[in-house]
Amino acid sequence: MDFKELSVKCRTYRHFQQKPIAPEILEELMENVRIVSSAMNGQVLRYVLVKDPHLVKALQPAIHWAAALPKELGTPKEGEQPVSFILVCKEAHANPWSDIDVGIAVRNIALNACSYGIGSAILGAVEWNKVTSLLDVPEDWKPRLLVALGYPSCESHIVEVPANGSIKYYLDENKNYCVPKRALKDICIVK
Ligand SMILES: Cc1cc2nc3c(=O)[nH]c(=O)nc-3n(C[C@H](O)[C@H](O)[C@H](O)COP(=O)(O)O)c2cc1C
Repeated sequence: MDFKELSVKCRTYRHFQQKPIAPEILEELMENVRIVSSAMNGQVLRYVLVKDPHLVKALQPAIHWAAALPKELGTPKEGEQPVSFILVCKEAHANPWSDIDVGIAVRNIALNACSYGIGSAILGAVEWNKVTSLLDVPEDWKPRLLVALGYPSCESHIVEVPANGSIKYYLDENKNYCVPKRALKDICIVK
């Protein structure tokens, strides 16, 4: 997959096949995120890779999916939930750039997963107290984002922003996601 295709396909997926991800692939995601750029090379991020099916199942109720959609459409049902998670935390006394580091890390994970045909969802609307207690996260690791992973069971397509200007994502008649993205001319000045 070249980088353009990767960029197009690396969307948010919220419905997954129940096929496990090979441990070597999960290990590769972690190995590659280990070496991402970080402000001042501070390396303030900490991770919990969740592959135990019981823990994966237990985490599901802590997630709030797809705020733009009715719950019955946007929230994965049993049989279509993610099969692994990576929790991204930062150290308690992280530097002021740490949230930018978090963004770089989750995008690295998502692109790396996509290169294997694995879909992801970056999740911020998460009940962190449930997650930290279920995963027994060390006290001084502050959770920032959860990345859900699995082979997608739906598609997601980029569409043009409609005439009314709405950038709300929606489902088409096949329950595939349509995600409006603004045109380059509307977001970039070239000098
Ligand atoms: C920082 C961040 C937090 C997000 N949190 C959630 C979330 O809690 N629940 C959810 O369903 N999607 C979440 N998303 C996914 C966005 O809704 C998604 O990126 C957006 O709709 C655009 O779709 P795309 O990723 O396919 O381009 C989050 C994305 C980002 C970058």
